[in-house]
Amino acid sequence: MVYIPTIAFGTGSKWKWHDVTTYVQLALESGFSHLDTAAFYETEPFVGRAINESGLSRKDLFLTTKCGLMIPLRNSLKDSLEKLGVEYVDLFLIYNHFFVPDIKEAWKEMEKLKEEGLTRSIGVSNYEVKHLRDTLKVAKVKPAVNQISLNPYNYAEMRPIIDYCQENGIVVEAPITTYPGGPVDIPITAAALRLGITPTQVIFLWVRAKGAVIVTTTSSKERMKEYLAVNDLPPTSLTHEEIAAIDHAGANGPPPGPVHLVPVVAVVVVVPPLPPLADFVVVVFVVVPVPFQRRRCGFGRRKITISNDTDNDNANNKNNTNAPSSSPTKLILVGVIIILLLSITFILGIVLVLMGLLC
Ligand SMILES: NC(=O)c1ccc[n+]([C@@H]2O[C@H](COP(=O)([O-])OP(=O)(O)OC[C@H]3O[C@@H](n4cnc5c(N)ncnc54)[C@H](OP(=O)(O)O)[C@@H]3O)[C@@H](O)[C@H]2O)c1
Repeated sequence: MVYIPTIAFGTGSKWKWHDVTTYVQLALESGFSHLDTAAFYETEPFVGRAINESGLSRKDLFLTTKCGLMIPLRNSLKDSLEKLGVEYVDLFLIYNHFFVPDIKEAWKEMEKLKEEGLTRSIGVSNYEVKHLRDTLKVAKVKPAVNQISLNPYNYAEMRPIIDYCQENGIVVEAPITTYPGGPVDIPITAAALRLGITPTQVIFLWVRAKGAVIVTTTSSKERMKEYLAVNDLPPTSLTHEEIAAIDHAGANGPPPGPVHLVPVVAVVVVVPPLPPLADFVVVVFVVVPVPFQRRRCGFGRRKITISNDTDNDNANNKNNTNAPSSSPTKLILVGVIIILLLSITFILGIVLVLMGLLC
C-alpha cells in the first residue's frame, strides 16, 4: 500500500526547461512533500538538487516522475533516477499514450519496473477510457493513478474517465492550478465569502470533494501557504448545494475570452506599372479571430490511500473528478509564431523577386 499526499507541487507547464531549484526549495520549506516532475519537463536535475539541499529524509517525500517521449520506459526511469539523485521514485507515470508505441506492452514493462523496486507505484497520465481498458486487459497491477486535468468547465466532459477510474480504484490526479474565469466565479465567490476563504481555496475544496489529488504550482511563497492551508479545512467544507452550483455553472462552458487576431494569410499586392523608386508593396494580412482563454486557480493537502494491487479497491477515492486539457493558449501562440514566420518569409521572397525583376 502506498500513500500519496493529495497535493503535489508541480514542476512542469510554465516551469518546463527552467531552473526550478528555488521554487522547489520554497515548496519543501512551506510544507509540500509531494513533488511532480517528468523527463519531458527537464526539471528533474533541479528537483534533485532541491531535495538534496533540503536535508529532508527521502522517506518523507513523495516523488512522481513521468516517462519521456518514445524513450524505452526502463531507460527513461533510470535516467530520471540518476537526474533526481534517488534510488527510487514513489510514482512513475506513462505521461501520455502517445509516448509509448504499444499500450499493453508498455504496461507490462511498467509492472517489471515496479517489481524491481525502481518505483513504488505505477500509473498513467492523459489516458482515456479506451486506453485504460486496454491496459487493464493485461494488468496484473492496476494503474494507481491517472493524471488528467480537471476544472469545473471540463468536469461534465470528463465524467466517463473519472467514473471509470473510480470504478477501478484508480486515483485521479488533477493539474488544476488555473481555470478560466466566467460562470463558475459566481458560486465560487459565494462559497469563499461564506467560508471566509479565497476563491482559489474554494476551487481546491471542489477538487478535493471530487476525490482528486491536486497537482499545482506557483513561484509565490504566499500562494504556497494559501494552497496548503486547504489541508486545515474540513473536507466537507463545501455544501452539496455549493458543489452542485459549481458543477452547474461549469457545465455552461467557459467564457469565450478575449479575441486575438491571428494573421493566417499574407497577400502581397504589387501596384504596377511604377518606376523603380516608386515601387511599393502592399501587404494585406487576412486575419481570423481566435478565442484566447486565460486560466487561473489553487490547492490543499490530505492523504488518500492508493493501491497497486489488482485485488484491492481504492476505498478512499470516491467522487473523483478530472479532465484532460491541452493548453489552447500555447497552441495558439505557437500557431501565431509559425504563421508570422511564414508570412515574413513569403513577403521577403516576393520583395526579392520583384527587386530582381526591376533591377
Ligand atoms: N500530466 C500532464 O499532462 C500535466 C499537464 C499540465 C500540468 N501538469 C502538472 O501540473 C502542474 C501544474 O500545472 P498547471 O498547468 O496547472 O500550472 P502552470 O500553468 O504551470 O502554472 C500555474 C500558474 O498559475 C499562476 N497562479 C496561481 N494562482 C493564481 C491566481 N490566483 N491568479 C492568477 N495566477 C495564478 C501561478 O503564477 P505565480 O507563479 O505567479 O503564482 C502559475 O504561474 C505542472 O507543474 C505539472 O507538474 C501535468
